[in-house]
Formats: sequence, C-alpha cells, structure tokens
Amino acid sequence: MIKYKNIKNAHIKSDLIYRDLYETSIKDSDLFWKKISNRVDWFMKPKKISDVDFKTAKIKWFQDGQINASYNCLDRHINNGYGDKVALIWEGNNPDHDKKFTYKQLLCEVSKFANVLKSHNIKKGDRVCIYMQMIPELTIAMLACARIGAIHSIVFGAFSSDSLRDRINDLNCKVVITQDSGVRGTKIDIPMKCNVDKVIKNSECVQKVFVVKRTDFKIHMKNQFDFWWHKEMNCASNICEPEIMNSEDPLFILYTSGSTGTPKGVLHTTGGYIVYSSYTHEIIFDYQPDDIYWCTADIGWITGHSYIVYGPLSNRATTVMYEGVPNYPDFGRFWQIIQKHKVNIFYTAPTALRALMKEGNAYVEKWDRSSLKLLGSVGETIKKPEWEWYYKIVGEEKCPIVDTWWQTETGGILISPLAATTKLKPGSATKPFFGINPVILNEKGEEIKENPAEGLLAIKNSWPGQMRTVYGNHDRFFDTYFSQFSGYYFTGDGAKRDKDGYYWITGRVDDVLNVSGHRLGTAEIEGAIGQYKDVAEAAIVGFPHEIKGEGIYAYVTLMTGIKPNLKIEEGIINKVREVIGPHANIDKIQFSIGLPKTRSGKIMRRILRKIAHNKLNDLGDISTLADPTIVEQLIKYRK
Ligand code: WT7
Repeated sequence: MIKYKNIKNAHIKSDLIYRDLYETSIKDSDLFWKKISNRVDWFMKPKKISDVDFKTAKIKWFQDGQINASYNCLDRHINNGYGDKVALIWEGNNPDHDKKFTYKQLLCEVSKFANVLKSHNIKKGDRVCIYMQMIPELTIAMLACARIGAIHSIVFGAFSSDSLRDRINDLNCKVVITQDSGVRGTKIDIPMKCNVDKVIKNSECVQKVFVVKRTDFKIHMKNQFDFWWHKEMNCASNICEPEIMNSEDPLFILYTSGSTGTPKGVLHTTGGYIVYSSYTHEIIFDYQPDDIYWCTADIGWITGHSYIVYGPLSNRATTVMYEGVPNYPDFGRFWQIIQKHKVNIFYTAPTALRALMKEGNAYVEKWDRSSLKLLGSVGETIKKPEWEWYYKIVGEEKCPIVDTWWQTETGGILISPLAATTKLKPGSATKPFFGINPVILNEKGEEIKENPAEGLLAIKNSWPGQMRTVYGNHDRFFDTYFSQFSGYYFTGDGAKRDKDGYYWITGRVDDVLNVSGHRLGTAEIEGAIGQYKDVAEAAIVGFPHEIKGEGIYAYVTLMTGIKPNLKIEEGIINKVREVIGPHANIDKIQFSIGLPKTRSGKIMRRILRKIAHNKLNDLGDISTLADPTIVEQLIKYRK
C-alpha cells in the first residue's frame, strides 16, 4: 500500500468507510444524493431527487431545484469570505508569462462579459459557440454564459472550420466567441478568427462574433458584426445578477464522436452536473482547501469542463490552466510549472506521459516536485510502463495514482481509486465511485455476477452527472445508449472485473478510436477521406501506436483507372486534417483494389483490424465474404 501524505486528513480515510458509504449510496440513492446536493447553494432546494427511466431515456435530477452554476463557482465563495483567494492561475505558452485571478477578480470579469452578452441580446437558452485556445477568457466566457443561462458549446481549438461549421449549424448558434490567433508551443499563428470567418460567410444563424486579442496576428474585423472583447468589456458594468435556472435547464452541449453518423451534441444540465462534478473533484482528487490543482486537459474536452472549470471552482479550489504544450520550450515544461506554482494535485493523460517518458528522466528530475501529493490519469488505460514511470520518477513513490474512468456522456468520473484507501493495481481503474453501479454484461445482455468477469461495461443506475439527451435528437440518445440492453446505460467499452472486484477497461467495443485520448469516429474519418476526389471508398481501423495509444490505419480504394502515388497519399492525409482537424492525422494508408465485404455489402472491419494489428493467423471465418481473395491482397500489401 502506498503511503499517502494526506492520509490523516483524507476525505475518505478507510476502506471500511468507502464500503459503508458505497453500500448506502446504492441502496438508498435518493437519500444519498439529497445529502450530497447540499454541498452547493440552491436558490430553491430540490425536494424531488431523481426521476429516471432508462426504458424511455428520461433522466431528471433535482428537478424542482433552482440554481446557477456561475453563482456556485464564484459569488458563493466571495460571500463566504474567500474573495481574495486565487481561483485561476493561468500559465501562458512562454514560461515567463502568467496571470492570477482571485475569486473576486474572476467574478468581476465574468459579470462584465455576461453584461456584454446581454447587451447584444443573448438570452437564457440561446446557444453560444466558444472556439478558443486555452486563455483565461475561455473560462470567463463559459461562466458568463452560465451566469445568464445561455448554453455554451465549446469547440476544441484544433478543430478545422468544417467541423466548427457543423457544430455551429447543428445548434443554431447566435454568436461565436474566439480569439485573433492561437499560441501553442512554437506555433504563434493558429488561425482561430480566420477559421471562424470561413464558417460565417454562409452562416444563417450567427449574428455576432466576439474576438479576444491574444496576439498581433492581422485579422479582418467586420463592422457591426465582429466585436473586440476588450472594447466591449471597457464599458460593461461589473454587476450582473445570476439568472435563476431550473436544475434541469441545459448548462452546456459538447460534441463527441460515436460509431455512426455525425458527432452527437451531448447535453448536460445544471443542478445534477454541478453537484456531480464538484463532489467527484473533491473526493477523488482529495482536494483540500489550500491545494493547488492542475489538470492538463484542454477545456475543449469534457475533462476540462468538469475538472478545470466547474468541479474545482465550485469547490473553491485554485485551478491551473495552461496554454501551451508539454514539450515547449522543452520536455520539462510540465515539471517546471509544478515547481513554479507548487502544484499538489496533477491530472494528465497516458499519451502525454508516454511522450515525455521517452525523453528520459533528466527533464523531470531538474525540477522540484515535492509539492505533489496525488497524481491522476484519464483518457485511456494507463499501462504498466507509464504507470511505473509516473509513480516512481514523477511522484518519487510518494503519490498515489488515481486512474479515472469516465466519458463525455457521464459528466464526471465513475470508476476510480480513492487516494488514501484503495490498494492500487497498475492498469485498473479499480472501484466504482459512490452512487455508481457498474455491471459486466455478456453479448446477450445478461449480467455476469461472479468474479472474474469479462464482457461489456454498462451502468445499472443513474447519477446526477449523466447526460440528458443528444441535442435535438432524443431518439438517437435512446438508440445509442439504452436500446442494446434494456434497463442499462451502455458505455461502449469492454471491461474485466477481477477476483477482487476491480474493473479493468479493455477499450471500445464499437467503431470509435481513441487517438491520444481524443475520441474519433471511424465513420467521420471515412467521410472525410471520401471527400478527396480520387477516392472511391475507405475503411478505418485503429492499430497500437507507441505514443498515441491508438493510431489511424486507412484502407483506401481509388476510382477506377487512378494509380496510387505519394501525392494522392498526402492529399488524403491533408484532406482529413482539413475536414476534421490536425489531431485526426492518418498514420498509415494502404491502397487496395477492394475492401473485404459480406455479400450484403457490409465491410468486415474485424478482418481489417486483424490485418492492421498484424494478427494474421487469427482472421476468423472469411467464408461469408463476397470475394475472399481480397484478403490475400490486403495481407500482402500490409503497411
Ligand atoms: C472513452 C471516453 C472523460 C475523459 C476523457 C475521454 C476511454 C477514458 C479511461 C480510463 C481506460 C478510458 C474509454 C471511454 N477512457 N478514461 N481511465 N481507462 N479507458 O472522454 O472522449 O468521452 O472518451 O475514453 O474508452 O469510453 P471521451
């Protein structure tokens, strides 16, 4: 068992306490969550706790409660006398560039921008698209939306203008908030505003664009349409009463990829989400009042929403937000930041650890990491080599690692160790959090009750942070998560449960890739490849990749008469980067005269996956293929 520095003060001090509380949380879930819901301030306390029916995908929490998320992240702490506590430490791309905001200062900025939005006629329920890099104004813009009840939809700053367009149109966003250009590592001119301009040209919904000046990058500002953030802020009042929201009013929408179709707008509501992100943040990271907490995720993903902004700020934490990349100015940047701000809790992704690990220990050891008490991991299974390195080199064998399993859909962490009490097993996310009842199902949807078990991971009950719907398409919500196995939320992941009841996530069982912790749908990538003029057909599978965890392997069939060459290969790669974004970078392209299809025309991805994984002896039954000879071809020209 790891010696945990904070064992005496830990929120959960013993396994007995965990087991007791866990049992209560499952047995009388409403009573449990009623108590927990008191951790936040309500304008009207909820009497009704949960109202859930997985058969119709109806999920409501605290529905008669009234609340405001920004009030809970800001005003509440100031009213309690903590206005001068640092809320946000922003670390810029360059090591000598940082800014700090106390809770009072942050509230002042948030209120001002909320008033700017109001003065431009943005109201409760309007959708606001935020397309920014990791600058403080991003956090300010989110909380300003929450303050007035506008629904924010953040589009990760690396997404291309095509992806941005789809998301803006799907939601009918009235405004976009962006910056002139983005700064990350050696790149100082990521064309944020230019990307927005490309979208806006033919947009029917966007009426206004707000632009933060981050650089001196030259951009075009259209009169009465594009507004500089700083100019608008100059004349805005710093008092803005928070809108009284119903618990089930939407807080935000965030897109995520699925196995089919276009990305889904995952909708989270206010009361349940704030309760869940705040509670999990405090307990799982064992957050104590003076801790400095840093999550390296981008706010463009759910991890940043829940564990840079809403969770930490609702807990009156000091949260670090970093603009740059792990390898700028060199591979020691993370550890330099930890020393500089005396970070106690550090939360990152295995893909970042792998990239840093291979550069050697000197980059880590150069900096003082004695402030650290706890390390976290998220996004994919943390495998033994990077676990050991994180534990021994980064944490100097003094910090437990919480391997947190969750999803955009879950709003917060569902399976994770607790720092002071859980005996860790590298590679296992260990045990369910309070109120979470995971099950392992077999293909028929029957629960495997005994241990060990292996199968599909589903959740048998609801929790306050669960997504409520796919924006504009409740049927799709039901079909994706509740139709396969009646009465369960199906996660899309496979998992094992060992003899001690520990969960081991084995990865997606659907056609979703996890590339550097980013979720990408195969259908999305195939669609993008299909936009390249010479392509007849494409199929995508993942393959093991040293740094990214999973790489993208593309099988491409060209139009009759077109011969593959380097130019086409590059063209396809660039097309996908252009349509989705540079994080969707194809690693291998194999041109092929055809794809393995059943007689009914369905591509047998299983075979393509086996070939990409180089598991050639284990192709399974190929007799149902329309043309089995294709397989020989594919094996012969394997990349
Ligand atoms: C998928 C969700 C929510 C965090 C960021 C990703 C995989 C996430 C773990 C973990 C093994 C993990 C799963 C999940 N995943 N955390 N600790 N161990 N796998 O959010 O983009 O919604 O992806 O990421 O496959 O389904 P996301």
